[in-house]
Amino acid sequence: MVAILEIKNIGKTFFQANEKFEVIKQANLTINSSDLVSLVGPSGSGKTTLLQICGLLDNPTSGSIIIDGIDASIANDKLRTSIRQNKIGFIYQFHHLMPEFSAIENVALPLLIQGFKKAEALKIASQTLDEVELSDRYNFKPSQLSGGQQQRVAIARAIVAKPKLILADEPTGNLDSELSQKVFDLLKNLVKKHQIACLVVTHNLELAKKTDRIIKIKNGQLSE
Ligand SMILES: Nc1ncnc2c1ncn2[C@@H]1O[C@H](COP(=O)(O)OP(=O)(O)O)[C@@H](O)[C@H]1O
Ligand SMILES: [Mg+2]
Repeated sequence: MVAILEIKNIGKTFFQANEKFEVIKQANLTINSSDLVSLVGPSGSGKTTLLQICGLLDNPTSGSIIIDGIDASIANDKLRTSIRQNKIGFIYQFHHLMPEFSAIENVALPLLIQGFKKAEALKIASQTLDEVELSDRYNFKPSQLSGGQQQRVAIARAIVAKPKLILADEPTGNLDSELSQKVFDLLKNLVKKHQIACLVVTHNLELAKKTDRIIKIKNGQLSE
């Protein structure tokens, strides 16, 4: 068991119009290399805030975030960017694909950013699109794909660079219930196959039950 994500005494306070909002209080959580963990809680309970902190897209007010053994809370911007690019894959509720790029170009992007040559990046991207059952959609733009297909491209983009950790914020929140099951099962199968640790936010308890652990967030506190 290798700890991939360690959240240690994380607190997050927002100040809005001189009022103080303590969104996360003393949160602790460890996710190991092959863990698929769901995060559930009411709207506004701090799920996205916690994920943004784990993804080094936001800073906690207190506490530390350790990713694959590296304390990101004391790392400089260059190292934080490198951890984000090399160790973390993101999936959002709305696909966040580049509209002017084809599916294969979108999936190749993280590899190109890492410095892969274009031909190699496209080859790996095509193999990854095969893994999400989109072999016949390489050259389709996001607008030419269905909602479920767009999310499958987003999953391919998140796993293509073999991250250690995937952070998924309501990845099926925009899909109907039958499609949600299918896309969630696909995500689960892929993270298990590639032994990627995954923290997934979902409103859907049926989906959360498919994960190894369910973490609840309420009044700023985590419980299992
Ligand atoms: N940048 C911000 N400034 C002030 N308050 C914020 C900011 N981002 C989030 N919040 C507040 O933090 C709380 C949690 O938000 P969020 O993490 O998006 O919740 P969830 O994803 O669980 O619905 C909300 O009350 C929201 O208004
Ligand atoms: Mg949210």
